[in-house]
Amino acid sequence: MGDGRVIAVAGAKGGVGKTTTAINLGVALAQAGQTVAVVELDLAMANIVDFLQFEPERTLHDVLSGTAPTTEALYPIDDRMHVLPSGTELAEFNAINVAALAPVIRSLRPAYDFVLLDTAAGVSPETIYPLRLADEVLIVSTPRVASIRDAKKTIELAHRVNGEVMGVVFVRAGTGRAPPPERLATFLETDLIGAVPEDETVAAAQDMSQPICLFDPDSPAAMAYQEIADALVLGDGTDDEDDDDSVLGMGGVADLQNAEEIAKSAAEADPDGMDGATKPLEGDELTTGDPDDNGFEFVKRKGE
Ligand SMILES: Nc1ncnc2c1ncn2[C@@H]1O[C@H](COP(=O)(O)OP(=O)(O)OP(=O)(O)O)[C@@H](O)[C@H]1O
Ligand SMILES: [Mg+2]
Repeated sequence: MGDGRVIAVAGAKGGVGKTTTAINLGVALAQAGQTVAVVELDLAMANIVDFLQFEPERTLHDVLSGTAPTTEALYPIDDRMHVLPSGTELAEFNAINVAALAPVIRSLRPAYDFVLLDTAAGVSPETIYPLRLADEVLIVSTPRVASIRDAKKTIELAHRVNGEVMGVVFVRAGTGRAPPPERLATFLETDLIGAVPEDETVAAAQDMSQPICLFDPDSPAAMAYQEIADALVLGDGTDDEDDDDSVLGMGGVADLQNAEEIAKSAAEADPDGMDGATKPLEGDELTTGDPDDNGFEFVKRKGE
């Protein structure tokens, strides 16, 4: 126990599997003997309670607004895994102070081997801050073009706030005409940490409010999460690249004030903005030949 690695599970596109990955990686790490806290940082659209069987009385919102100590909002899911959920009421969201996150995460670090931060979709202080707060950022994407474009943005944002990107996990891999995960990771200029196949057991587990790694440990998706957990335990996952040139902030409270500026410069760097999902990745290695691509129909290489 102790001196936990704080990993932000991130990816700007919504619904790509961040929460599923945070929970199941948490369970898989616990099954590998590690102690784990999964912290839900989706403060506005909290839904981790829908994936698990518990009804929290205290949440991260209570912790951030100073009405509960962190220990009261941690719920055991497995012997070695605890979850710190966000509140699901929108009214609670108004009362919180995101800058108070840093001391909460700092207080968890000595108590767990791993602290996984399940982050929200989009680009906002709520999503940017964890990229720096964490020791490492684990990018989650599907192998679809819209998701990969947003993953690229998240990597860019992480670099701008001096975050350390450990690599990418592709979720719902192996379907359609998507290029292999290795090639997609190369396109993103990051390491491939794992690929979780499209697996109908994921939905079945979710219907039972259970992590797939507990519901059906032998399912393809659960086995993929176990492999990723093993890789995380064995390696420290980081590369030592120095990206100081593009650093806009250093992760202190001041970064939060910078977050709007950071988000703005990210938007300027990509004039298509977050809504550019139907446009091809012009000039890049990957592109879609289908003008109606909605992000779920991949993708022909240019010239093929
Ligand atoms: N390997 C998989 N196979 C099939 N379905 C999956 C797989 N992984 C995730 N899903 C499904 O994808 C949906 C979105 O997953 P999830 O909520 O984890 O995404 P998210 O990135 O956290 O979304 P949000 O951005 O809204 O927080 C869920 O319905 C989940 O069951
Ligand atoms: Mg989520």
